[in-house]
Amino acid sequence: MDANTLKTEAARAALEHVEGGMTLGIGTGSTAEAFVRLLSERVAAGLDIVGVPTSERTAALCRELSVPLSSLEQTPELDLTVDGADEVGPELSLIKGGGGALLREKIVAAASRRMIVIADESKVVETLGRFPLPIEVNPFGLRATAIAVERTAGRLGLSGALETRMAGEKPFVTDGGHFIIDASFGRIPAPRALAEALNAIPGVVEHGLFIGLAHAAIIAGKDGVRALDARSRIEEME
Ligand code: A5P
Repeated sequence: MDANTLKTEAARAALEHVEGGMTLGIGTGSTAEAFVRLLSERVAAGLDIVGVPTSERTAALCRELSVPLSSLEQTPELDLTVDGADEVGPELSLIKGGGGALLREKIVAAASRRMIVIADESKVVETLGRFPLPIEVNPFGLRATAIAVERTAGRLGLSGALETRMAGEKPFVTDGGHFIIDASFGRIPAPRALAEALNAIPGVVEHGLFIGLAHAAIIAGKDGVRALDARSRIEEME
């Protein structure tokens, strides 16, 4: 089974948690896109939901597929968010932001009663950090913020290349008008400590460490689909 098939299987399993009348945060990325495509079929068949997209890209796909949308302004409390991830680690800690939508993804997840992560098994790791950590920063003072990130990480024993994400010749710009620094730390053994330290840097708008936000993960692998909740993930790691 290729990765796209696995993503679709995870998305299909997540759809079982969607009920009529729900307000739904809708994630960003290729796995979330598979979810939107399946969701749109259910909507066409009469499922009554309203979605809040986590990016302009997801909003455009939802419009194209006639998935009803609201904004977080109009619908500030959501029943469920379904989103992908770049890494799924212990206690369902996540790295997100490979698609550049981490700020809206985190705001939407935090406004949701439940968050379900959908991913193929290649995303499950014992320690976060193999995937470069996306850090969304204000364009003002980019270099000063990068130096502060480097020093902060160094105090926690972390080091690695910090690269401003590019879109061709220019920095990639997020939906919020910010830049992204991708931090290749390799291993992040204490993600909560790093998350808190990054939050304290003024130029950092948000980072891709999602700690304590995901309630469950649906992981599709060659042997089938399995669900992890924060507790089962802990037990699995023991
Ligand atoms: C978007 O900013 C990301 O957080 C995505 O959720 C993440 O990159 C997963 O994307 P894929 O489903 O395409 O792997």
